[in-house]
Amino acid sequence: MAVNWYPGHMHKAQKEIAEIMPTIDVIIEVLDARIPYSSNNPMIAKLRGDKPFIKVLNKKDLADPAVTQLWLDYFNGQPETKAIAISAKNTAETKQILNLCQQLAPHRVQAGKQLRALICGIPNVGKSTTINVLADRIIAKTGNEPAVTKAQQRIRLENDIVLSDTPGMLWPKVENENSGYRLAATGAVKDTAMESDDVGTYIVEYLMEAYPEKLKARYGLDEFGYTGYDTLELIGRKRGCLRAGGRVEMNQAGDIVINELRESTIGYISMETPSMMEQEEAALEIE
Ligand code: G4P
Repeated sequence: MAVNWYPGHMHKAQKEIAEIMPTIDVIIEVLDARIPYSSNNPMIAKLRGDKPFIKVLNKKDLADPAVTQLWLDYFNGQPETKAIAISAKNTAETKQILNLCQQLAPHRVQAGKQLRALICGIPNVGKSTTINVLADRIIAKTGNEPAVTKAQQRIRLENDIVLSDTPGMLWPKVENENSGYRLAATGAVKDTAMESDDVGTYIVEYLMEAYPEKLKARYGLDEFGYTGYDTLELIGRKRGCLRAGGRVEMNQAGDIVINELRESTIGYISMETPSMMEQEEAALEIE
């Protein structure tokens, strides 16, 4: 999936969402539970005003449950916001979103009026899967190709809830370099200009710090190298990613680590915590 976040395209999406926002009671934002900060679209929070917000941490089956709980607490502490962690294919978990909609817009329910929800999310977070489960039928195409909703869709759900899908495609955090790496690492953005050895090094460096035991166990390492790159080299050597002359083929080693992270073979890994993100945001402000 190659996605280019052109300014013109971003402007169009923003305009269209701004237009429908006044008709919306609740905003549902689907995030990747492993990277709730980087998979967030910065515009939605700006256009939201004081509308109630549901933060859906999807793909919880791949994330570290303890970190997911930190994110739930963090989002639940924000005004007019409720957070929920789901695996979108799990119908019972996903349908809880409908209860949250009703809790956040009780005036619509009490007045016997339709409750209007807007669902949004950057590509690959599982928005289409979520829509299909909420609607009990295949409405949105899932899979690798980002399906761009051209015309605005209004989908009738149970409990007198009408779901609007955001038109256009929403972009992820682009101003934080770390976010680019985490989006590539988790496969949120699959086809980037980044090299596998760079992304692999980023992952290994992070795991050395945050999940050292899981990294050691997965790759049979007693010790780490001095840097993330050195450790990736050790992993490549162990896995036989060798070129003539015994040099490690670092892109191949990177691909192994990337794939095993995405499939959660290394374990349940979250790439961001709320406190890490606060530090990064503060650093961005100083720059
Ligand atoms: P999008 O509309 O936000 O772009 O995402 P979509 O629903 O198409 O989901 C993107 C990929 O993430 C799909 O995998 C989908 O199956 C997977 N996915 C969605 N929700 C979950 C979840 O809770 N847990 C896990 N582990 N995966 C999830 P794919 O391989 O790209 O496509 P497909 O072959 O499964 O359709």
